[in-house]
Amino acid sequence: MKNWVLIIMKKILIHSYKGGTGKTTVAVNLANILSQKTRVLLIENDFGMPTFVNIFKHEPKVYFNDFCKDSATFNEIIQAGIKPNLDIIFAKTQFDPSAEIMGSNQAWFLKLLEKMMENLKACEDKYDYVIFDTPPGWQLILVNLIALADTVILLLRPNSFEVSGTKQLLDILYKRAKPSMSFDVNLLFNQVPEVDMENDLETWAKKLQLEGIKYVGYISCSCHTAYEMAHETTIFSLEHEFSRSLQQVIGNLKI
Ligand SMILES: Nc1ncnc2c1ncn2[C@@H]1O[C@H](COP(=O)(O)OP(=O)(O)OP(=O)(O)O)[C@@H](O)[C@H]1O
Ligand SMILES: [Mg+2]
Repeated sequence: MKNWVLIIMKKILIHSYKGGTGKTTVAVNLANILSQKTRVLLIENDFGMPTFVNIFKHEPKVYFNDFCKDSATFNEIIQAGIKPNLDIIFAKTQFDPSAEIMGSNQAWFLKLLEKMMENLKACEDKYDYVIFDTPPGWQLILVNLIALADTVILLLRPNSFEVSGTKQLLDILYKRAKPSMSFDVNLLFNQVPEVDMENDLETWAKKLQLEGIKYVGYISCSCHTAYEMAHETTIFSLEHEFSRSLQQVIGNLKI
């Protein structure tokens, strides 16, 4: 008798209370690591300050914005062939403040959520992981992404201000967007100074664990990483310290 292994497509959301915590760097490198052995779809959802065009040095003809406006299908906005096993959906800067994607029309977002659900369901045989990179804070698109996600990685820098902000984010946004909290919420510290902060991290993590979230590790703040990023390298080799930390996190996430 054959042994069948059932692999279900996992949807992973990378988010934070504050901007600049490292969401995009984590999303892109998580996609890079996972795509070494599995099939990944990486989706950019930051319409205010998109960065994928610079990171992947690719200018698509159609963007996520076109799908949102019903002027392109989901299959049309997927960019394949940039990296092996990694398909990407790019967001375009939305300068028009009246654009619905930047607004608060709940009915419009609900329709978008239904479209996303339908299209992601149709991709279940095509991908093992879908990764959402997000804008920080509380834009309405986050309600949709929280509803879609199975696993959340909440990023924060190691300071009490970001810890209390993350708690607020859980109380105000996450518990409302998904009242059952029937998904994994995981805590990842980034840009941790290279001094012993284990006790601080554990104390902060414990505060948030009360809210039902898991502490899955930290990534050190590295001048070398910052220097490379300043010179337009965001996708790191698997041996790079950022990738190695992220591989440990993947082990703790059990995804
Ligand atoms: N571990 C790290 N060590 C050093 N620098 C880092 C590290 N992680 C991120 N950075 C720096 O932080 C900056 C912000 O990273 P990134 O763009 O990934 O954050 P973000 O959360 O996506 O920001 P935004 O909220 O604006 O979308 C980058 O310029 C990068 O140089
Ligand atoms: Mg970003």
